[in-house]
Amino acid sequence: MSQPDLVIRDAILIDGSGSPGVRGDLAVHDDRIVAMGDLAREKGSREISAGGLALAPGFIDTHTHDDRALLSNPLMECKVSQGVTTVITGNCGISLAPLSIDRYPPPPLDIIGREASQFFPTFDSYLSALDRDPPALNAACQVGHSTLRVGAMDRLDRPATASEIGAMRGALETALEQGAIGLSTGLYYPPAKDAPTDEVVELAKSMRPYGGIHTTHMRDEASHLVTSVNETIAIGKAAGIPVVISHHKASGTPNHGLVRDTLKLIDDARRTQSLGLDVYPYVAASTMLDSRRIPLASKIIVTWSKSHPEFAGQALDIIAKQLGCTMGEAANRLLPAGAIYFMMSEDDVRRVLSYPHTMIGSDGLPHDEHPHPRLWGTFPRVLGHYVRDVKLFPLEEAVRRMTSLSAAQFGLKDRGALRPGAYADLVLFDPAAISDSATFEKPTTPAAGIAFVMVNGRMVWRDGAHTGDRPGRALRRGSLGPMGGAAAH
Ligand code: ZN
Ligand code: CU
Repeated sequence: MSQPDLVIRDAILIDGSGSPGVRGDLAVHDDRIVAMGDLAREKGSREISAGGLALAPGFIDTHTHDDRALLSNPLMECKVSQGVTTVITGNCGISLAPLSIDRYPPPPLDIIGREASQFFPTFDSYLSALDRDPPALNAACQVGHSTLRVGAMDRLDRPATASEIGAMRGALETALEQGAIGLSTGLYYPPAKDAPTDEVVELAKSMRPYGGIHTTHMRDEASHLVTSVNETIAIGKAAGIPVVISHHKASGTPNHGLVRDTLKLIDDARRTQSLGLDVYPYVAASTMLDSRRIPLASKIIVTWSKSHPEFAGQALDIIAKQLGCTMGEAANRLLPAGAIYFMMSEDDVRRVLSYPHTMIGSDGLPHDEHPHPRLWGTFPRVLGHYVRDVKLFPLEEAVRRMTSLSAAQFGLKDRGALRPGAYADLVLFDPAAISDSATFEKPTTPAAGIAFVMVNGRMVWRDGAHTGDRPGRALRRGSLGPMGGAAAH
């Protein structure tokens, strides 16, 4: 072997497979890992002492809304500061492409784009924009079903006709050819709630020849949670494709505990089909402000408002008092807007987190003025709070659910693992010190305990600061491996 660019010495190597960490060195050349173990006889052009800290594959954030943030804030501090080196975008039915639009995008599309000019007419034009002006981390991107509906239908409060489904399928297949990795739905949301199961199955069938994935923000995460999981399983089965349930949870006090039933359903279905899920480690959700959710939440915090930006960060009940109206009226006056909803139970969060096939996904909302802390805190919160402090599961298992499990599910070839030949996406962290610093009061505080983060062999974050480098890549389907591998064990 010729001299490697870099040797990292004296780390606990946590390879992402779940097996116990072992003390050793790791060599990087160009954008790949080239050797691991005792490298006392190797000499790198550069050498770094890891000082006995944990070296892991960079984390894969399986559930993001970073579609536009990758372009508007390409340093992506919110994610690289947590050790994240790859994000999956286009979730919950919303993506910036393919869509030509000439009006304010209907919520929740405004979570990712609040101006018509921020959308891209083709998937290729979106991915090319990432190539031209690359972000600090890698991105694999999905097409949103609601985005397709907005582009193909004159009104959204009805099922798509056969010809509209045909138009959506055409747009979807072109996007898949151009590198999109799959299709997401947000059947809960206004633009898609009137789409029947069959409409989704028809579109999901397009995934099969392309080896694409289907992820879903289900129709209902409250009293009809079980029905929704059954619908998702049926869609995966009918279309014959891998499916991922996004941010799995039970919303609203009367529904707490329902995840016991759904995890059992998921377990049964996994025997015969590829089915995955992800979760974020908090008891509060966040999305568009919607008065339908008021009865489900014990507290609501406004994250942004177009008509009343001064209320970002304030509780809805206080705002209602100030405006002298009900919470429902206050919510409607703030629209379009976003909010945080406290509506899950800690026991359920732990149940879903503890399930061995659950991946970690932040669902962070990068354009909110006062975002949910999951945007800056998800991965360190799992490793610090839930692994070290609560002892919910071992460190190596947590790393597996942030790396190799996610890479297999989304078909990210040569990522999510420490092994010679894999990409040098790396995070060095201190298991004794790692913790989320972002809170509901101060949500944009970088995590503690991350020593450095490397993407494609280049340092992006070191000693609490961004290096300014942007070595990230738009990962296209085609160049990736088969998806849904997570079901194979
Ligand atoms: Zn969602
Ligand atoms: Cu989401």
